[in-house]
Parts: sequence; C-alpha cells; structure tokens
Amino acid sequence: MFNSNYKNRLFGRTRGRSKKKINLKNYYELIDKYKFKKCNDKLEYILDIGTGYGETSIFLAKKFKDEVVISCEKYIDGNINLLKNIEQNKIKNIQLHNGNVYDVLESTNKKCFRLIWIFFPDPWPKNRHSKRRLVTSDFLKKLHKILKEKSEIHITTDSTIYVRFILNSIYKCKDYFVWLNQSEMNLHIKDYFDIETKYYKKAINSQRKPSLFILRKL
Ligand SMILES: C[S@@+](CC[C@H](N)C(=O)[O-])C[C@H]1O[C@@H](n2cnc3c(N)ncnc32)[C@H](O)[C@@H]1O
Repeated sequence: MFNSNYKNRLFGRTRGRSKKKINLKNYYELIDKYKFKKCNDKLEYILDIGTGYGETSIFLAKKFKDEVVISCEKYIDGNINLLKNIEQNKIKNIQLHNGNVYDVLESTNKKCFRLIWIFFPDPWPKNRHSKRRLVTSDFLKKLHKILKEKSEIHITTDSTIYVRFILNSIYKCKDYFVWLNQSEMNLHIKDYFDIETKYYKKAINSQRKPSLFILRKL
C-alpha cells in the first residue's frame, strides 16, 4: 500500500547507536497491531510527524482522548519506546506508521486531519544537506490537501537555520496558510504545551530557545 519514491526519501537513522539487541519479530507484530491503514470518516485524526521516542504522540493522545493520533516514524528504537508506553498506559487512540510521512500523504486522498504536529524536524544544518529538510513549501502544500478546513499545523525548531528556512516556506505558502502567532514567535513552547521531548531537552540544555510556528489552513 505504501510506496516511497526517491525524491521523498527519508534520511537519518533507523536504529540507535547502542546496537541493543531487539526482537524484530516481536517489534513487527506490535507494529502490525497498531498499524495505521486508512482514515475512517467517523473519527477525528491528528498527524504527528517524526515522533522520535514518541513523547508527542503520548501527549497528544492523552490531551485529545476522543481523537486518533497517527504517529509517523521509522526510528525503531523510538517506536519501541512508544509501543511500550502505549501498552503500559493502555492507550487506545494511537496508530503507527513505521516509515516515511510521504507514504501517508500519498495514500490519503481525504481531508481527514484536524491537526498536524512536527516537533523538532531534523534541521540538516549543512548546506549540502539542505535538500533533506522536510518543511518545504511543497511539503506544506501537500499537508494542506489532507487538513480539514481551518485546521492547524504546529512546527517547532531550535535551529536558527531551520527557522529561516521555515519562514521562507511559509512565505511561499501565504495563499494556503495564515501564520497565526507571527507577532509572538520565539515564545517558549511551554507557554503553549507542557511537553518535554528528547530534542526539547537537548535544546534547553544547550540554551537554544525553540520557536513554535502555528499555521492555520486558509
Ligand atoms: C530531530 S528528531 C525529533 C524527534 C521528536 N519529535 C522530538 O522532539 O524529540 C526528528 C525525527 O523525525 C524523523 N523523520 C525525519 N523525516 C521523516 C519523514 N519523512 N517521515 C517520518 N519521520 C521522519 C526522524 O527519523 C527523527 O526521529
């Protein structure tokens, strides 16, 4: 069903550095149990992109109990952590796509998402890697197609290079989205959400202040 082409390739790690042994059979059985297949018209959906260790998906699932969170990540160590958390906390409203978010975009032809989160996308700070950055104007336009009317995208980054890149992407999409918090950008995420992910903690420990962009579909 899902089929990524080269242009939208997913870069970065699939396994952690520790090379801790994992039972892949168990992993894929659990992934299958929680696998996202397609949207059901009767439900409200939230798309959580690049969830790392899954903290954002757990946060969103607890905050929006009547909605379904689709967690999109190919990092196996992170997904294992998320699956453990889902099982331990008996969370019923998370489904996983163990792979590239483009698979979901390409297989969804309905406007089924009520909210999209992109928390600390990989900044790829080196110029020669800039084509790997996820939040391009083309990507935002693709998200526009699967968002319900007047729905929002929340993007967080602590990278000044990525802030400039995202600003450019937003500008190119000014007919698609209104940037709601432009007068307050650089506010602490915690002014909006009480959540600390691995990359949030890294940013704070390195005294980098994360910026939050809130876009609403026009
Ligand atoms: C810097 S980490 C941030 C993780 C987490 N959101 C956090 O705040 O700790 C970015 C994550 O996005 C994932 N990612 C990058 N491109 C992706 C894509 N096209 N589809 C799904 N996940 C992606 C990476 O595997 C990585 O785990």
